[in-house]
Amino acid sequence: MDRRTFLGAGVVAVAATLLDQPKIAQAAGQEISLPAPDMKGGLPLMECLKKRQTNRRLGSEDLTLPELSNLLWAAYGVNRSDGRHVIPTARNQQKVMLFAVLGDGVWKYLPEKNSIAKVLDGDRRSDFDGSSLILLFAAPINDQFGGMHVGSMYQNVGLYCASKDYPNCVKHTRSDILDKVLPLPSGWKVLISQSIGSQVK
Ligand SMILES: Cc1cc2nc3c(=O)[nH]c(=O)nc-3n(C[C@H](O)[C@H](O)[C@H](O)COP(=O)(O)O)c2cc1C
Repeated sequence: MDRRTFLGAGVVAVAATLLDQPKIAQAAGQEISLPAPDMKGGLPLMECLKKRQTNRRLGSEDLTLPELSNLLWAAYGVNRSDGRHVIPTARNQQKVMLFAVLGDGVWKYLPEKNSIAKVLDGDRRSDFDGSSLILLFAAPINDQFGGMHVGSMYQNVGLYCASKDYPNCVKHTRSDILDKVLPLPSGWKVLISQSIGSQVK
């Protein structure tokens, strides 16, 4: 069977690297099922905490889809059958959104489906710092808890990166540069970004 299996309605299951994605010709609006995140293994939590740090030397090599799936799940995945997430949210209102800026466009993470939907075409990574992946964390501007929610997300990602030795940096600078073109609900904005890069030798 071809490794790319069409599931209908524009949803594509892909077991390939992100480098392959342009060949599938996803236009904005199309959706990709991510491989199931790997919830086993990794460094023990205390070692991740010991290793967590900012790194500003970030490479631009593409991530694989399994790596992307793990990173997005660490940030905001669903971890229980009742639809709750890896991060706590005030009154479980889940007022956060996560976007992934990748080489072939900007994608919105759909945690309940473990998929990503393309929202913008084109490589926008140089609008930020050009690293492999830039995560954008959005929340309502007037939500007193928004900053706490996105802080939980970037800390989860930082710990995952520590476990995998991925250089990463939380960045406020330029983080809202796509706000006018992202499909954000009225009154929402990107509060912070997090760049994840390959190792720079
Ligand atoms: C909310 C927030 C915003 C940040 N913004 C930037 C930024 O715009 N540019 C940058 O290079 N680092 C940024 N950082 C990274 C901090 O400078 C870094 O966390 C701090 O120097 C401590 O280093 P450490 O993460 O290795 O402990 C930010 C960190 C946080 C938590």
